[in-house]
Amino acid sequence: MIRARHVTKFFNRGEVNEVLALREVSLTVNEGDFITVIGSNGAGKSTFLNALAGVFPIEEGSISVADQDVTTWPEHRRAAFLGRVFQDPLLGTCPHATIEQNLALASRRGKRRGLKRGVRKADRALFREKLSMLGLGLEDRLTDATGLLSGGQRQAMTMLMATLVRPKVLLLDEHTAALDPKTAVQIMQLTDELVRSERLTTLMVTHNMAQAIEYGNRLVMFHQGRVILDVSGEEKAGLGIQDLLERFHELGGDGCVSDRALLG
Ligand SMILES: Nc1ncnc2c1ncn2[C@@H]1O[C@H](COP(=O)(O)OP(=O)(O)OP(=O)(O)O)[C@@H](O)[C@H]1O
Ligand SMILES: [Mg+2]
Repeated sequence: MIRARHVTKFFNRGEVNEVLALREVSLTVNEGDFITVIGSNGAGKSTFLNALAGVFPIEEGSISVADQDVTTWPEHRRAAFLGRVFQDPLLGTCPHATIEQNLALASRRGKRRGLKRGVRKADRALFREKLSMLGLGLEDRLTDATGLLSGGQRQAMTMLMATLVRPKVLLLDEHTAALDPKTAVQIMQLTDELVRSERLTTLMVTHNMAQAIEYGNRLVMFHQGRVILDVSGEEKAGLGIQDLLERFHELGGDGCVSDRALLG
């Protein structure tokens, strides 16, 4: 589904604060893969997801999605087939729009926007059905401003919006990290349900080792702009938190990652 080849990304190239954030990263994501992505702070995880989404151009390499070379495509064009959820629950939804308006916008992903501004009755029935699956009672609050919702409720909405039109790839960047532990578990369960039921090809960045091990069929570790571990199937199923922590320690990985992992 995704073929990234020798992807290289610099920030502030040629300046004193130059950072080589991705060093010739090659990764093939197969259709239906649910990959958990781990690595220390600054390893290049977010940069890789952003490179896939076209947030910035890359210096070298190529990226194709569903056999189309998208390397030079701008972000808005790639957005037609990518669903994204970020760490910050406030980013994915528009606070001033109502719940149904946000969902209506999401349902037009990949289509021309702005032609039909209103929310149709049929849409409303669908939104109600989808929202009721969240189990948060949001199906009865369609006309509430989204800004009134809690962080967890908004993140649940963002998950729904990212998957309302089936994305070719779902990109999740620490999407439960800013939530309280109980809500984080709920959103993770919702994620797993959505990914399984829709068979979504997914990359999920997390600092939570237990999560990285429990979910998905494949685990990828970034370190200093490179992929240094890529395990799947039985090998992944056999991994324990201790194995991953040892791997971090071998690399001189920072305590921050291990502490957060143990807490998770
Ligand atoms: N917009 C930017 N401008 C300059 N440097 C950046 C920018 N974005 C990322 N970097 C740098 O690129 C490197 C990789 O950052 P990235 O955000 O991809 O790390 P990460 O693996 O997502 O880390 P974290 O776990 O902390 O989120 C870091 O050194 C970071 O400081
Ligand atoms: Mg990051």
